[in-house]
Amino acid sequence: MSTKGRTTQRLDKVLSNLGFGSRAELKKMAKQGSIVVNGTVMKDPGKHVDPYTDIIEFEGETIQYREYVYIMLHKPPGVVSATEDLRDRTVLDLLDKDYLVFEPFPVGRLDKDTEGLLLLTNDGKLAHELLSPRKHIPKTYEAIVEGRVGEEDARLFAAGVTLDDGYATMPAELVIHSYEERDDGVILSRISLTIHEGKFHQVKRMFEAVGKKVVYLKRVSMGELRLDKSLEIGTYRELTEEELALIGRTASL
Ligand code: URA
Repeated sequence: MSTKGRTTQRLDKVLSNLGFGSRAELKKMAKQGSIVVNGTVMKDPGKHVDPYTDIIEFEGETIQYREYVYIMLHKPPGVVSATEDLRDRTVLDLLDKDYLVFEPFPVGRLDKDTEGLLLLTNDGKLAHELLSPRKHIPKTYEAIVEGRVGEEDARLFAAGVTLDDGYATMPAELVIHSYEERDDGVILSRISLTIHEGKFHQVKRMFEAVGKKVVYLKRVSMGELRLDKSLEIGTYRELTEEELALIGRTASL
C-alpha cells in the first residue's frame, strides 16, 4: 500500500477506524482486558502501535488492518452516485456496514438511471488521479440509442461535437454493434462509446448533439479497469490484486 499508514497510531484510533467502537467504548474494553498487542494485554488504548506490523487482537480475534478499500460495484439503475441524499437511495446503501466504516465514496458519478462500473474507495488520491481532467482517463459506455446511429455520427464524435452549453467535446470513439426494431417501429442502435473526459450527462448530451436519444446506458470500463462480467447488477466485490495493479495500487499486507 502507500507509505501512509506506516507510522504508528493510537491504538483506539486504529480500532475505531475499523469499526470496533468509539474511543469511550474502547477505553472500557481495554480496561476489561479485551485488547492484546503482541501478546500483551493493553489496558491503555492511547498507546501507539504500528497497525501493519504489530499483532493486535480484539476480544480474542486478530485484526487485519488496512487503511483503504477499493470496491467494484455493478451499479443498478435507481440509486444515486452520492454518499447521502435526502430523497433517493445511494450507492452506499448497497454496501455492508463492514465497508462503511472505511467511509468509501464513489469515484465520479453515474446518472441515477445509468448502470455499470462504479469504483468506491476512501483513497482520495486515487479518485483525484482517475478524475483529473488533465489525465483524460478513457471511459467506455455501452448504450442503446433511439434512431440509426451511423458512420456519420462516428465521424462527428471523432472530431468532437458541441454540447447544448457550447462545450466542444474531445474526440471520442464510437463503435456500432447492431440495430433492432422496437415494437413501435423505432430503430434502436446498440453502440459503445469511449470518452476521455467526464462532463455532466456527457454521453446523453453527445447523442443529443447529433439528434438522437440514449435510452439505456451502462459503463463498462474506466481506465484499465473493466466491469467484471460475472458481477451481478446491484452487487459488488473488492478489487483483485491484478485490478489494483491496473490502477497503480498494490494490495495491503
Ligand atoms: N454520460 C451520461 O450521460 N451519463 C452517465 O451516467 C455517464 C456518462
